[in-house]
Amino acid sequence: MKVTVVGAGAVGASCAEYIAIKNFASEVVLLDIKEGFAEGKAMDLMQTASLNGFDTRIVGVTGDYSKTADSDICVITSGIPRKPGMTREELIGINAGIVKDVSSNLVKHSPNTIIIVVSNPMDSMTYLVHKTSGLDKNKIIGMGGALDSARFKYRLAEALGAPISDVDGMVIGGHSDTGMVPLTRLATRNSVPVSNFLSDDRLNQVLEDTKVGGATLTKLLGTSAWYAPGAAVSGLVQAIACDQKKMFPCSVMLDGEYGLKDICIGAPVILGRNGIEKIVELELSDAEKAHMQSSAEGVRKTNDLLEF
Ligand SMILES: NC(=O)c1ccc[n+]([C@@H]2O[C@H](COP(=O)([O-])OP(=O)(O)OC[C@H]3O[C@@H](n4cnc5c(N)ncnc54)[C@H](O)[C@@H]3O)[C@@H](O)[C@H]2O)c1
Repeated sequence: MKVTVVGAGAVGASCAEYIAIKNFASEVVLLDIKEGFAEGKAMDLMQTASLNGFDTRIVGVTGDYSKTADSDICVITSGIPRKPGMTREELIGINAGIVKDVSSNLVKHSPNTIIIVVSNPMDSMTYLVHKTSGLDKNKIIGMGGALDSARFKYRLAEALGAPISDVDGMVIGGHSDTGMVPLTRLATRNSVPVSNFLSDDRLNQVLEDTKVGGATLTKLLGTSAWYAPGAAVSGLVQAIACDQKKMFPCSVMLDGEYGLKDICIGAPVILGRNGIEKIVELELSDAEKAHMQSSAEGVRKTNDLLEF
């Protein structure tokens, strides 16, 4: 199992680290455009191998896509992150060119690869890869919902005063401050709906805190977060590599599901060796359906800025 991670910055390096620590891949290639940067990150990470007990080989390269050849999975984290006060959508001008160029280089050297898109605005970057890479639809996956769901569970556990392992919940919709659709109605503590324990006001607060989860961290850190994004990506990579058939909300090209077509947006999918093996259609309430539709309108507005 060979995995390439493009962008050896905060998210790319964190993602490579979690993949290595989970010890399911034979090789991780870290590629960056900044001279020597990926080589340095790879060497530093490899020096944790004996300490953390993994055998995954991490190789760093500067711009040399021949080293990524025959990757089973490629992760795109290259591009600029947001600064405090910015929206993810504002990154499109710079990141669209980077993502288009990177995905075409990846596919040239690994025509059968599965691509996981992380760079923001992620739903539109995933759409861009669909429109330009020539890969089958099941092989292009956007990571956002897995992270947003982890943040939702964190906020739910905080509100409940419960350990996170007691909590289950999922966020679908667009990966943006206004577009996220946290499915509060379906969230549970050990199978019991969280509404049994939390007032509407408290649940609403959880929902609002979840939606600005990324912005809250960007304000604190001065740049966007990396540990949870890296861990979320590593979960998707592992589900594919190990054919786990796990369900994650991912940005996926819809063709009528959830009443939407020709758009990449967060919906639950089953991930296995073939990438997206199934899109799971949930029965949404009227309010959730309306939220999903307005979320899609937001994503389409950003997609309209793309040039193919
Ligand atoms: N989808 C999500 O849930 C999620 C979560 C966090 C961050 N992000 C996004 O991930 C991206 C990366 O964030 P970060 O914090 O790691 O940023 P970062 O600045 O730390 O790292 C980005 C790296 O990309 C490299 N790069 C730029 N252009 C490149 C190119 N053409 N080829 C190869 N490498 C190139 C840069 O040199 C840099 O090292 C941002 O767009 C950010 O918004 C997405």
